[in-house]
Amino acid sequence: MSKILLISCTPRHESNTKKLVQTFIDTTKNKADITHLDLVANPAPLLLGNNLNALLKRNFMGMELDADESEVLQDVDQMVEQLQSFERIVLAYPMYNFSIPAVVKAWFDAVIQNGKTFKIKDDGSYEGLRQGTKALVLMTTGGDYSQEPRGGRAISYQ
Ligand SMILES: Cc1cc2nc3c(=O)[nH]c(=O)nc-3n(C[C@H](O)[C@H](O)[C@H](O)COP(=O)(O)O)c2cc1C
Repeated sequence: MSKILLISCTPRHESNTKKLVQTFIDTTKNKADITHLDLVANPAPLLLGNNLNALLKRNFMGMELDADESEVLQDVDQMVEQLQSFERIVLAYPMYNFSIPAVVKAWFDAVIQNGKTFKIKDDGSYEGLRQGTKALVLMTTGGDYSQEPRGGRAISYQ
């Protein structure tokens, strides 16, 4: 049975995205082992001070961290370790202001780590380190993005 990490952000009562997530779970649960990370209940920490500086020190400057610095990175490191243990990822969230909700961006900021999920090559270009990983995005919107000029490539469900 394949393993899926389902990451969701569905804060609204009667959330459309939550219904989509439930349909995904109902249709997939017999075929896959689903681990659900609910970002509303368990948000990734924002990189605002000590954690950001510790991350830069370790991941970009290659320096050792002291115990306090390692401690402030525990949450983000748990999230990146969780991501690294899955090869199937499903992200579910509503569109907010033509973009993703802030907690979803916070999760990306936590897990996109130099040396773990990507690396910088000698020529300065970037290489993803999760290339075998497949991802599915379940995004709901208020607007219709199924036609040009707004969109056209996304699958639209009525
Ligand atoms: C803060 C906020 C911003 C939104 N921005 C957009 C937007 O830019 N484009 C859009 O099509 N819908 C937008 N919507 C509508 C939601 O994407 C849409 O209603 C979605 O289905 C809500 O998901 P939910 O029911 O899971 O909360 C926005 C909704 C909210 C609450």
